[in-house]
Amino acid sequence: MDYLQTYGEQKLNGTIEISGAKNASLPLIAMTILAKNNVHIKNLPNVADIKTLLKLLSNLGAKCEFHEDKVTVDTSTLNQTKAKYDIVKTMRASILVLGPILARFGHCEVSLPGGCAIGQRPIDLHLKALEHMGAKIDIKSGYVEATAPDGLKGCNIIFDKITVTGTANIVMAASLAKGKTVITNAAREPEVVQLCEVLNASGVKIEGIATAVLTIHGTDSKLLNIDEFKVIPDRIEAGTYLCAGAITKSKLTLTNVDATHMGSIISKLEEMGLSFDITKDSITIHPTQDIKPVKITTQEYPAFPTDMQAQFLALATQADGVSIIEEKLFENRFMHVSELQRMGADITLNGNIATVNGISKLSGTDVMATDLRASSALVLAGMVAEGETNIHRIYHLDRGYDNLEKKLQNVGANIKRLKEETL
Ligand code: EPZ
Repeated sequence: MDYLQTYGEQKLNGTIEISGAKNASLPLIAMTILAKNNVHIKNLPNVADIKTLLKLLSNLGAKCEFHEDKVTVDTSTLNQTKAKYDIVKTMRASILVLGPILARFGHCEVSLPGGCAIGQRPIDLHLKALEHMGAKIDIKSGYVEATAPDGLKGCNIIFDKITVTGTANIVMAASLAKGKTVITNAAREPEVVQLCEVLNASGVKIEGIATAVLTIHGTDSKLLNIDEFKVIPDRIEAGTYLCAGAITKSKLTLTNVDATHMGSIISKLEEMGLSFDITKDSITIHPTQDIKPVKITTQEYPAFPTDMQAQFLALATQADGVSIIEEKLFENRFMHVSELQRMGADITLNGNIATVNGISKLSGTDVMATDLRASSALVLAGMVAEGETNIHRIYHLDRGYDNLEKKLQNVGANIKRLKEETL
Protein backbone atom coordinates (compact mmCIF):
# COMPACT_ATOMS: atom_id res chain seq x y z
CA MET A 1 0.00 0.00 0.00
CA ASP A 2 1.16 3.53 -0.77
CA TYR A 3 1.17 6.63 1.39
CA LEU A 4 1.97 10.28 0.75
CA GLN A 5 4.59 12.25 2.61
CA THR A 6 4.53 16.02 2.62
CA TYR A 7 5.97 18.94 4.55
CA GLY A 8 4.65 22.25 5.77
CA GLU A 9 5.36 25.87 4.93
CA GLN A 10 5.30 25.23 1.20
CA LYS A 11 5.12 27.79 -1.58
CA LEU A 12 3.71 26.70 -4.90
CA ASN A 13 4.01 28.40 -8.25
CA GLY A 14 3.01 27.44 -11.77
CA THR A 15 0.31 25.79 -13.81
CA ILE A 16 -1.78 22.68 -13.19
CA GLU A 17 -3.74 21.04 -15.98
CA ILE A 18 -7.10 19.78 -14.79
CA SER A 19 -8.24 16.31 -15.88
CA GLY A 20 -11.64 15.23 -17.10
CA ALA A 21 -14.32 14.89 -14.45
CA LYS A 22 -14.53 11.48 -12.76
CA ASN A 23 -18.19 11.96 -11.91
CA ALA A 24 -19.03 12.89 -15.50
CA SER A 25 -16.97 10.04 -16.97
CA LEU A 26 -18.69 7.31 -14.93
CA PRO A 27 -22.25 7.83 -16.26
CA LEU A 28 -20.88 8.56 -19.73
CA ILE A 29 -19.08 5.20 -19.77
CA ALA A 30 -22.24 3.46 -18.49
CA MET A 31 -24.14 5.22 -21.28
CA THR A 32 -22.13 3.32 -23.91
CA ILE A 33 -24.36 0.33 -23.06
CA LEU A 34 -27.10 2.16 -25.00
CA ALA A 35 -24.98 2.48 -28.16
CA LYS A 36 -25.00 0.42 -31.31
CA ASN A 37 -21.60 1.75 -32.41
CA ASN A 38 -18.10 1.83 -30.87
CA VAL A 39 -18.02 4.89 -28.62
CA HIS A 40 -14.86 7.05 -28.37
CA ILE A 41 -14.54 9.14 -25.22
CA LYS A 42 -11.72 11.68 -24.73
CA ASN A 43 -10.34 13.51 -21.67
CA LEU A 44 -10.95 10.72 -19.17
CA PRO A 45 -9.07 11.03 -15.88
CA ASN A 46 -6.52 8.35 -15.07
CA VAL A 47 -8.11 7.27 -11.79
CA ALA A 48 -9.02 3.94 -10.22
CA ASP A 49 -12.81 4.40 -10.43
CA ILE A 50 -12.73 4.70 -14.22
CA LYS A 51 -10.66 1.51 -14.49
CA THR A 52 -13.12 -0.23 -12.16
CA LEU A 53 -16.11 0.67 -14.33
CA LEU A 54 -14.29 -0.37 -17.51
CA LYS A 55 -13.41 -3.66 -15.81
CA LEU A 56 -17.07 -4.15 -14.93
CA LEU A 57 -18.09 -3.54 -18.56
CA SER A 58 -15.37 -5.94 -19.76
CA ASN A 59 -16.60 -8.60 -17.32
CA LEU A 60 -20.05 -8.17 -18.83
CA GLY A 61 -18.61 -8.88 -22.27
CA ALA A 62 -17.93 -5.39 -23.65
CA LYS A 63 -14.60 -4.52 -25.30
CA CYS A 64 -12.82 -1.52 -23.77
CA GLU A 65 -9.56 -0.04 -25.00
CA PHE A 66 -8.17 2.60 -22.65
CA HIS A 67 -5.03 4.54 -23.72
CA GLU A 68 -3.86 7.65 -21.90
CA ASP A 69 -7.01 9.74 -21.59
CA LYS A 70 -9.06 8.03 -24.33
CA VAL A 71 -11.27 5.00 -24.34
CA THR A 72 -13.14 3.13 -27.04
CA VAL A 73 -16.03 1.02 -25.79
CA ASP A 74 -17.79 -1.61 -27.89
CA THR A 75 -20.85 -2.91 -26.08
CA SER A 76 -22.16 -4.93 -29.05
CA THR A 77 -20.50 -8.00 -27.48
CA LEU A 78 -22.02 -7.42 -24.03
CA ASN A 79 -23.61 -10.74 -23.10
CA GLN A 80 -23.90 -10.74 -19.29
CA THR A 81 -26.34 -8.70 -17.25
CA LYS A 82 -25.11 -9.34 -13.72
CA ALA A 83 -22.85 -6.81 -11.96
CA LYS A 84 -21.26 -8.92 -9.26
CA TYR A 85 -20.49 -8.06 -5.66
CA ASP A 86 -16.70 -8.26 -6.13
CA ILE A 87 -16.72 -5.13 -8.31
CA VAL A 88 -19.72 -3.27 -6.92
CA LYS A 89 -18.28 -3.43 -3.39
CA THR A 90 -15.22 -1.52 -4.60
CA MET A 91 -17.25 1.23 -6.28
CA ARG A 92 -20.82 2.23 -5.50
CA ALA A 93 -21.15 4.05 -8.82
CA SER A 94 -21.38 0.58 -10.44
CA ILE A 95 -25.12 1.03 -9.85
CA LEU A 96 -24.99 3.27 -12.95
CA VAL A 97 -25.15 0.18 -15.17
CA LEU A 98 -28.58 -0.79 -13.82
CA GLY A 99 -30.66 1.69 -15.88
CA PRO A 100 -28.91 1.14 -19.24
CA ILE A 101 -28.62 -2.68 -18.97
CA LEU A 102 -32.26 -3.02 -17.94
CA ALA A 103 -33.34 -0.70 -20.77
CA ARG A 104 -31.35 -2.62 -23.37
CA PHE A 105 -31.75 -6.24 -22.26
CA GLY A 106 -34.95 -6.23 -20.19
CA HIS A 107 -33.19 -7.67 -17.16
CA CYS A 108 -30.29 -6.78 -14.91
CA GLU A 109 -28.85 -7.87 -11.59
CA VAL A 110 -26.62 -5.57 -9.58
CA SER A 111 -25.18 -6.31 -6.20
CA LEU A 112 -26.53 -3.89 -3.59
CA PRO A 113 -23.74 -1.37 -2.99
CA GLY A 114 -24.21 -1.22 0.81
CA GLY A 115 -23.15 1.73 2.97
CA CYS A 116 -19.89 3.59 2.65
CA ALA A 117 -17.61 5.76 4.77
CA ILE A 118 -19.62 8.94 4.21
CA GLY A 119 -23.10 7.58 4.88
CA GLN A 120 -25.72 4.94 4.20
CA ARG A 121 -26.25 6.05 0.62
CA PRO A 122 -29.42 4.12 -0.26
CA ILE A 123 -30.53 3.53 -3.87
CA ASP A 124 -34.28 3.42 -3.12
CA LEU A 125 -34.99 6.40 -5.40
CA HIS A 126 -33.34 4.67 -8.39
CA LEU A 127 -35.41 1.53 -7.77
CA LYS A 128 -38.71 3.33 -7.15
CA ALA A 129 -38.32 5.24 -10.41
CA LEU A 130 -37.56 2.08 -12.40
CA GLU A 131 -40.65 0.42 -10.89
CA HIS A 132 -42.66 3.40 -12.05
CA MET A 133 -41.33 2.73 -15.53
CA GLY A 134 -42.73 -0.80 -15.40
CA ALA A 135 -39.78 -2.76 -14.05
CA LYS A 136 -40.26 -5.52 -11.52
CA ILE A 137 -37.67 -5.19 -8.78
CA ASP A 138 -36.75 -7.89 -6.27
CA ILE A 139 -34.02 -7.83 -3.69
CA LYS A 140 -32.56 -11.32 -3.34
CA SER A 141 -29.38 -12.48 -1.63
CA GLY A 142 -27.88 -9.00 -1.65
CA TYR A 143 -28.71 -8.35 -5.30
CA VAL A 144 -31.18 -6.06 -7.03
CA GLU A 145 -32.94 -8.17 -9.63
CA ALA A 146 -34.73 -6.00 -12.17
CA THR A 147 -36.80 -7.27 -15.06
CA ALA A 148 -38.83 -5.53 -17.72
CA PRO A 149 -39.56 -8.18 -20.36
CA ASP A 150 -41.89 -5.85 -22.30
CA GLY A 151 -39.48 -2.92 -22.08
CA LEU A 152 -39.59 0.21 -19.92
CA LYS A 153 -42.39 2.73 -20.36
CA GLY A 154 -42.16 6.49 -20.09
CA CYS A 155 -43.95 8.02 -17.08
CA ASN A 156 -43.80 10.90 -14.60
CA ILE A 157 -41.16 10.57 -11.91
CA ILE A 158 -40.87 12.94 -9.00
CA PHE A 159 -37.71 12.40 -6.99
CA ASP A 160 -38.30 12.93 -3.25
CA LYS A 161 -34.69 14.07 -3.01
CA ILE A 162 -32.27 15.30 -5.63
CA THR A 163 -29.99 12.42 -6.56
CA VAL A 164 -27.09 12.71 -9.00
CA THR A 165 -26.55 9.08 -9.98
CA GLY A 166 -30.28 8.44 -9.55
CA THR A 167 -31.03 11.09 -12.18
CA ALA A 168 -28.31 9.72 -14.48
CA ASN A 169 -29.60 6.15 -14.13
CA ILE A 170 -33.19 7.10 -14.94
CA VAL A 171 -32.22 9.39 -17.82
CA MET A 172 -30.34 6.47 -19.37
CA ALA A 173 -33.20 4.03 -18.72
CA ALA A 174 -35.70 6.51 -20.18
CA SER A 175 -33.57 6.95 -23.31
CA LEU A 176 -34.56 3.52 -24.66
CA ALA A 177 -38.03 3.45 -23.05
CA LYS A 178 -41.30 3.66 -24.95
CA GLY A 179 -42.73 7.16 -24.78
CA LYS A 180 -41.98 10.23 -22.72
CA THR A 181 -40.48 10.28 -19.22
CA VAL A 182 -40.67 13.46 -17.17
CA ILE A 183 -38.28 13.66 -14.21
CA THR A 184 -39.15 16.35 -11.67
CA ASN A 185 -36.59 17.41 -9.05
CA ALA A 186 -33.78 16.19 -11.30
CA ALA A 187 -30.13 16.87 -10.44
CA ARG A 188 -28.61 19.81 -12.33
CA GLU A 189 -24.93 19.03 -11.72
CA PRO A 190 -22.75 19.76 -14.79
CA GLU A 191 -21.96 16.03 -14.93
CA VAL A 192 -25.69 15.21 -15.37
CA VAL A 193 -26.01 18.03 -17.89
CA GLN A 194 -23.22 16.56 -20.03
CA LEU A 195 -24.85 13.13 -19.99
CA CYS A 196 -28.12 14.69 -21.20
CA GLU A 197 -26.33 16.72 -23.87
CA VAL A 198 -24.52 13.68 -25.28
CA LEU A 199 -27.75 11.63 -25.30
CA ASN A 200 -29.60 14.52 -26.91
CA ALA A 201 -26.98 14.64 -29.66
CA SER A 202 -27.30 10.87 -30.15
CA GLY A 203 -30.97 10.63 -31.07
CA VAL A 204 -32.74 10.91 -27.69
CA LYS A 205 -34.66 14.16 -27.56
CA ILE A 206 -34.26 15.66 -24.07
CA GLU A 207 -35.94 18.89 -23.04
CA GLY A 208 -35.15 20.95 -19.95
CA ILE A 209 -31.45 20.09 -19.87
CA ALA A 210 -29.78 21.85 -16.88
CA THR A 211 -33.14 22.44 -15.22
CA ALA A 212 -34.93 20.51 -12.47
CA VAL A 213 -37.50 19.10 -14.91
CA LEU A 214 -36.18 16.81 -17.63
CA THR A 215 -38.37 15.43 -20.39
CA ILE A 216 -36.85 12.44 -22.15
CA HIS A 217 -38.40 11.11 -25.35
CA GLY A 218 -37.42 7.43 -25.43
CA THR A 219 -36.42 5.66 -28.63
CA ASP A 220 -38.54 2.53 -27.92
CA SER A 221 -35.52 0.21 -27.74
CA LYS A 222 -33.70 1.69 -30.75
CA LEU A 223 -30.00 1.73 -29.88
CA LEU A 224 -28.09 5.00 -30.20
CA ASN A 225 -25.36 6.22 -32.47
CA ILE A 226 -22.99 8.14 -30.21
CA ASP A 227 -20.31 10.37 -31.77
CA GLU A 228 -16.91 10.94 -30.16
CA PHE A 229 -17.00 13.48 -27.34
CA LYS A 230 -14.76 15.00 -24.66
CA VAL A 231 -15.49 14.79 -20.92
CA ILE A 232 -15.92 18.13 -19.12
CA PRO A 233 -13.16 19.27 -16.73
CA ASP A 234 -13.28 18.08 -13.12
CA ARG A 235 -14.63 20.98 -11.07
CA ILE A 236 -13.83 19.21 -7.78
CA GLU A 237 -10.22 18.52 -8.74
CA ALA A 238 -9.95 22.16 -9.83
CA GLY A 239 -11.54 23.35 -6.58
CA THR A 240 -9.06 21.25 -4.60
CA TYR A 241 -6.08 22.90 -6.34
CA LEU A 242 -7.60 26.34 -5.78
CA CYS A 243 -7.67 25.45 -2.08
CA ALA A 244 -4.01 24.36 -2.40
CA GLY A 245 -3.15 27.82 -3.75
CA ALA A 246 -5.21 29.50 -1.02
CA ILE A 247 -3.83 27.49 1.93
CA THR A 248 -0.19 27.80 0.84
CA LYS A 249 -0.70 31.49 -0.06
CA SER A 250 0.58 30.84 -3.57
CA LYS A 251 -0.34 31.98 -7.05
CA LEU A 252 -1.48 29.06 -9.22
CA THR A 253 -2.99 28.84 -12.69
CA LEU A 254 -5.33 26.01 -13.61
CA THR A 255 -5.85 25.12 -17.27
CA ASN A 256 -8.47 22.95 -19.02
CA VAL A 257 -11.00 24.15 -16.48
CA ASP A 258 -14.51 25.56 -16.73
CA ALA A 259 -15.12 28.32 -14.17
CA THR A 260 -18.80 28.47 -15.10
CA HIS A 261 -19.22 25.14 -13.25
CA MET A 262 -17.47 26.49 -10.18
CA GLY A 263 -19.52 29.54 -9.19
CA SER A 264 -20.15 28.58 -5.56
CA ILE A 265 -16.56 27.41 -4.99
CA ILE A 266 -15.05 30.59 -6.42
CA SER A 267 -17.49 32.84 -4.58
CA LYS A 268 -16.69 31.19 -1.19
CA LEU A 269 -12.96 31.64 -1.89
CA GLU A 270 -13.64 35.31 -2.75
CA GLU A 271 -15.42 35.68 0.62
CA MET A 272 -12.27 34.27 2.18
CA GLY A 273 -10.21 37.03 0.54
CA LEU A 274 -8.86 35.27 -2.54
CA SER A 275 -9.01 36.86 -5.98
CA PHE A 276 -9.03 35.40 -9.48
CA ASP A 277 -8.28 35.98 -13.15
CA ILE A 278 -10.68 33.88 -15.18
CA THR A 279 -10.71 33.06 -18.88
CA LYS A 280 -12.79 30.62 -20.90
CA ASP A 281 -10.59 27.69 -19.89
CA SER A 282 -8.26 28.90 -17.14
CA ILE A 283 -8.38 30.22 -13.59
CA THR A 284 -5.53 31.98 -11.83
CA ILE A 285 -5.82 32.31 -8.07
CA HIS A 286 -4.07 35.20 -6.34
CA PRO A 287 -3.21 34.56 -2.71
CA THR A 288 -4.16 36.58 0.33
CA GLN A 289 -1.99 36.78 3.44
CA ASP A 290 -5.08 37.13 5.55
CA ILE A 291 -7.61 34.34 4.99
CA LYS A 292 -11.07 35.29 6.27
CA PRO A 293 -13.47 32.86 7.97
CA VAL A 294 -16.49 31.61 6.06
CA LYS A 295 -19.96 30.10 6.47
CA ILE A 296 -20.72 27.15 4.20
CA THR A 297 -23.71 24.87 3.77
CA THR A 298 -23.32 21.98 1.35
CA GLN A 299 -26.22 21.53 -1.02
CA GLU A 300 -27.04 20.32 -4.49
CA TYR A 301 -25.71 22.18 -7.54
CA PRO A 302 -25.53 25.10 -8.11
CA ALA A 303 -25.03 25.54 -4.34
CA PHE A 304 -21.80 24.59 -2.58
CA PRO A 305 -20.77 20.94 -3.30
CA THR A 306 -20.37 18.37 -0.53
CA ASP A 307 -17.34 17.12 -2.49
CA MET A 308 -15.51 20.36 -1.56
CA GLN A 309 -16.50 20.41 2.13
CA ALA A 310 -13.41 18.60 3.48
CA GLN A 311 -10.96 20.77 1.51
CA PHE A 312 -12.63 24.02 2.70
CA LEU A 313 -12.61 22.69 6.25
CA ALA A 314 -8.82 22.27 6.00
CA LEU A 315 -8.56 25.79 4.55
CA ALA A 316 -10.75 27.23 7.32
CA THR A 317 -8.21 26.06 9.92
CA GLN A 318 -5.94 28.77 8.48
CA ALA A 319 -8.58 31.54 8.46
CA ASP A 320 -8.44 34.36 10.95
CA GLY A 321 -11.69 33.74 12.86
CA VAL A 322 -14.52 31.26 13.28
CA SER A 323 -15.88 29.38 10.26
CA ILE A 324 -19.10 27.36 10.31
CA ILE A 325 -19.42 24.43 7.91
CA GLU A 326 -22.70 22.56 7.64
CA GLU A 327 -22.94 19.22 5.78
CA LYS A 328 -26.43 18.63 4.43
CA LEU A 329 -25.96 15.79 1.95
CA PHE A 330 -24.29 12.95 3.82
CA GLU A 331 -24.74 12.05 7.48
CA ASN A 332 -21.17 10.91 8.12
CA ARG A 333 -18.97 13.11 5.99
CA PHE A 334 -16.82 14.57 8.76
CA MET A 335 -14.39 11.71 9.33
CA HIS A 336 -11.50 14.01 8.38
CA VAL A 337 -12.28 16.22 11.39
CA SER A 338 -10.68 13.87 13.91
CA GLU A 339 -7.58 13.56 11.72
CA LEU A 340 -7.32 17.34 11.40
CA GLN A 341 -7.78 17.62 15.17
CA ARG A 342 -4.85 15.26 15.60
CA MET A 343 -2.81 17.75 13.58
CA GLY A 344 -3.82 20.49 16.04
CA ALA A 345 -6.90 21.96 14.34
CA ASP A 346 -9.43 23.55 16.68
CA ILE A 347 -12.71 22.11 15.35
CA THR A 348 -15.90 21.37 17.27
CA LEU A 349 -18.36 19.00 15.72
CA ASN A 350 -22.01 19.20 16.62
CA GLY A 351 -24.08 16.82 14.51
CA ASN A 352 -23.71 17.95 10.93
CA ILE A 353 -22.12 21.32 11.79
CA ALA A 354 -18.40 21.88 12.21
CA THR A 355 -17.19 25.04 13.93
CA VAL A 356 -13.62 25.78 12.96
CA ASN A 357 -11.63 28.10 15.13
CA GLY A 358 -8.76 29.55 13.05
CA ILE A 359 -5.88 30.23 12.95
CA SER A 360 -4.61 26.83 14.06
CA LYS A 361 -0.92 26.09 14.01
CA LEU A 362 -0.98 22.60 12.55
CA SER A 363 1.73 20.07 13.19
CA GLY A 364 2.63 17.19 10.92
CA THR A 365 1.95 13.64 11.99
CA ASP A 366 0.64 10.32 10.64
CA VAL A 367 -2.97 10.61 9.48
CA MET A 368 -5.40 8.30 7.81
CA ALA A 369 -7.50 9.08 4.74
CA THR A 370 -11.09 7.96 5.25
CA ASP A 371 -12.67 8.84 1.91
CA LEU A 372 -11.73 10.43 -1.39
CA ARG A 373 -12.16 14.11 -0.52
CA ALA A 374 -11.03 13.65 3.09
CA SER A 375 -7.73 12.44 1.60
CA SER A 376 -7.13 15.64 -0.34
CA ALA A 377 -8.08 17.74 2.72
CA LEU A 378 -5.29 16.00 4.66
CA VAL A 379 -2.82 16.74 1.85
CA LEU A 380 -3.80 20.42 2.02
CA ALA A 381 -3.38 20.46 5.81
CA GLY A 382 -0.02 18.68 5.49
CA MET A 383 1.27 21.42 3.16
CA VAL A 384 0.92 24.03 5.93
CA ALA A 385 1.61 21.86 8.98
CA GLU A 386 4.93 22.14 10.76
CA GLY A 387 7.18 19.21 9.91
CA GLU A 388 6.34 15.96 8.19
CA THR A 389 2.85 14.62 7.50
CA ASN A 390 2.29 11.05 6.31
CA ILE A 391 -1.11 10.40 4.78
CA HIS A 392 -2.01 6.73 4.85
CA ARG A 393 -4.70 4.75 3.01
CA ILE A 394 -4.45 6.90 -0.09
CA TYR A 395 -6.19 4.26 -2.17
CA HIS A 396 -9.20 6.48 -1.45
CA LEU A 397 -7.41 9.40 -3.11
CA ASP A 398 -6.36 7.30 -6.10
CA ARG A 399 -10.01 6.58 -6.85
CA GLY A 400 -10.63 10.14 -7.94
CA TYR A 401 -7.48 12.31 -8.26
CA ASP A 402 -5.42 11.90 -11.42
CA ASN A 403 -1.71 11.97 -10.46
CA LEU A 404 -2.23 14.35 -7.55
CA GLU A 405 1.31 14.23 -6.21
CA LYS A 406 2.85 14.68 -9.69
CA LYS A 407 0.64 17.68 -10.42
CA LEU A 408 1.62 19.21 -7.06
CA GLN A 409 5.32 18.38 -7.56
CA ASN A 410 5.19 20.21 -10.92
CA VAL A 411 4.23 23.41 -9.11
CA GLY A 412 7.02 22.98 -6.57
CA ALA A 413 5.35 20.99 -3.79
CA ASN A 414 7.45 18.80 -1.57
CA ILE A 415 5.30 15.69 -1.67
CA LYS A 416 6.15 12.11 -2.47
CA ARG A 417 4.50 8.70 -2.74
CA LEU A 418 6.09 5.98 -0.64
CA LYS A 419 5.38 2.33 0.09
CA GLU A 420 4.12 1.30 3.52
CA GLU A 421 6.53 -0.99 5.31
CA THR A 422 5.02 -4.39 5.93
CA LEU A 423 5.19 -5.44 9.56
C1 EPZ B 1 -22.82 11.62 -6.43
O1 EPZ B 1 -23.11 10.53 -5.56
C2 EPZ B 1 -21.33 11.69 -6.55
N1 EPZ B 1 -20.84 10.44 -7.11
C3 EPZ B 1 -20.71 11.96 -5.19
O2 EPZ B 1 -19.33 12.13 -5.40
C4 EPZ B 1 -21.31 13.25 -4.61
O3 EPZ B 1 -20.81 13.45 -3.32
C5 EPZ B 1 -22.83 13.16 -4.59
O4 EPZ B 1 -23.34 12.83 -5.90
C6 EPZ B 1 -23.50 14.44 -4.15
O5 EPZ B 1 -23.13 15.49 -4.99
C7 EPZ B 1 -20.85 10.27 -8.42
O6 EPZ B 1 -21.27 11.12 -9.19
C8 EPZ B 1 -20.30 9.00 -8.94
P1 EPZ B 1 -26.79 11.35 -4.51
P2 EPZ B 1 -24.58 9.95 -5.49
O7 EPZ B 1 -27.60 10.19 -4.96
O8 EPZ B 1 -25.23 10.11 -6.79
C9 EPZ B 1 -29.70 10.46 -0.85
C10 EPZ B 1 -17.02 12.08 -4.75
O9 EPZ B 1 -16.31 12.41 -3.79
N2 EPZ B 1 -30.26 9.38 -1.67
O10 EPZ B 1 -26.92 12.63 -5.24
O11 EPZ B 1 -24.47 8.58 -4.91
C11 EPZ B 1 -28.24 10.20 -0.45
O12 EPZ B 1 -28.15 9.34 0.67
C12 EPZ B 1 -18.40 11.59 -4.50
O13 EPZ B 1 -16.65 12.10 -5.93
C13 EPZ B 1 -31.33 8.64 -1.20
O14 EPZ B 1 -31.82 8.87 -0.10
O15 EPZ B 1 -25.27 10.92 -4.45
C14 EPZ B 1 -27.74 11.59 -0.20
O16 EPZ B 1 -28.12 12.02 1.08
C15 EPZ B 1 -18.67 10.77 -3.34
N3 EPZ B 1 -31.84 7.64 -1.99
C16 EPZ B 1 -28.49 12.42 -1.24
O17 EPZ B 1 -29.63 11.64 -1.61
C17 EPZ B 1 -31.33 7.36 -3.24
O18 EPZ B 1 -31.84 6.46 -3.89
C18 EPZ B 1 -27.69 12.75 -2.48
O19 EPZ B 1 -27.08 11.57 -2.97
C19 EPZ B 1 -30.26 8.13 -3.71
C20 EPZ B 1 -29.74 9.15 -2.91
